[in-house]
Amino acid sequence: MKRRTFLSLSAVAAATILIGQSFIPTNKINATDFKSKLPIPPMLEGEEINGVINYNLEILKAKHNFFKDVLTDTYAINGTYLGPTLKLKNGSKVSINYTNKLNESTTMHGHGMHLPANMDGSPHQLINPNETWSAKYQVKQRACTNWYHPHPEGRTAWHVYKGLAGLMIIEDNESQDLDIPRNYGVDDIPLVLQDRFFDRSGQIYYSPSMMQVIRGYISDTFVTNGAINPYIDVEAKEIRLRLLNGSNSTVYHLKFSDGRDFKQIAVDNSFLQKPVTLDYLRLSPGERAEIIIDLQDSFGKSFYLKELKENRAFVKFNVSKKATKKTKTPKILTKLESYSPKDAVNLRTFTLSAGMRSLYINGKSMEMDRIDEIVPINKIEIWEIYNQRMMMMGMQHNFHIHGTHFIILERNGKSSNVNDNEKGYKDTVYIGPGERVKLLVKMTDYIDEKVPYMYHCHFLEHEDAGMMGQFIVSKNQRRV
Ligand code: C2O
Ligand code: CU
Ligand code: CU
Repeated sequence: MKRRTFLSLSAVAAATILIGQSFIPTNKINATDFKSKLPIPPMLEGEEINGVINYNLEILKAKHNFFKDVLTDTYAINGTYLGPTLKLKNGSKVSINYTNKLNESTTMHGHGMHLPANMDGSPHQLINPNETWSAKYQVKQRACTNWYHPHPEGRTAWHVYKGLAGLMIIEDNESQDLDIPRNYGVDDIPLVLQDRFFDRSGQIYYSPSMMQVIRGYISDTFVTNGAINPYIDVEAKEIRLRLLNGSNSTVYHLKFSDGRDFKQIAVDNSFLQKPVTLDYLRLSPGERAEIIIDLQDSFGKSFYLKELKENRAFVKFNVSKKATKKTKTPKILTKLESYSPKDAVNLRTFTLSAGMRSLYINGKSMEMDRIDEIVPINKIEIWEIYNQRMMMMGMQHNFHIHGTHFIILERNGKSSNVNDNEKGYKDTVYIGPGERVKLLVKMTDYIDEKVPYMYHCHFLEHEDAGMMGQFIVSKNQRRV
């Protein structure tokens, strides 16, 4: 089953070069210069039926206004681009019901969710057109910002690019007690950061060349919650931003235009133990960060969230409202359980590399019917990920594991290379060219000897080109 090789992609590459000229840098046809309001994805709290909270989601073909007077064809969930934010409470039983109204099959994966493998929404839980598939499980994890997105084998990148993704906010008792902003859309603001190419007629243009598969499909127009160059009016107080890098394969180097610092309070799957003060944040595809910006002294000011390398902005903040209710983010946020490397029972290594036809993990590209690793339940393991440099160039990658979180133990052989803002529960880790990271991984709660979880690079073009593998969680320690 070889359906995505670089050979077929290079035909597209040739086409891209030919018609490349017809691109318009879309910032030019976009007349709204930070004058349109930032959309906030609606919050879906779910409906309780017999003790189970049900969320009903329809995956649709839609038309969305990225540009004034232009309707762009999209895929969306319950709307016209992206999907609602699901609010989940730790401990509750949920049923997330996805109905596929597209003409093609897809899946919906709970990225960052701790759930059984058959509820994961991986390539193995296809939802055919007009079918409903439900992810049913009990929420069993700390407060964090997760997200859902399609994961069909070989087509994930396209489905996400076309607009399918949404946030999942998990709250627990601890998060509800902290003196931090929690007024959704007002001082607790979700920001789904993406970039897109649009063609001359304002349609989403997705056609990666071989080079773009390798380097990433880095597109010229920033889109924030589905809007180009939006603004938001905020109060002069602490503001919490939930940042998701929802791009296909662009690493964002984020900074505020006035250089202001901020505190990072959470990573992918948990709060950090203590806020970490930063003035710059790198976020690779799939990673999340929650940050607090203190605007108490900024009344009347405006500034932008910018991408450093591109020197362009995602969104403009106008501090135009007086604070109603202030918060004071505490110095200690939580206490995280760590794992000791001494307790590790296995060392697994994963080498990320590129070949002529595919991208590889340990020399293999993804096969749906091959299990690559068998991981024993409730055991701590060390997973070492190595981004092998090639002769001519290094590639950027990251690494994501389904169904659990991990702790970053080392970067390039040293624990001191792990940044303070990576010292939380992570599910996706950036790995630069030639870099090696060691992770402490433990799978808990769910054994399934048949249905696998995935691990992969979250650069979606890399994932679709084969940089993905499968593991099952077993009762016993055994080999494939
Ligand atoms: Cu965000 Cu395998 O996924
Ligand atoms: Cu995932
Ligand atoms: Cu990659």
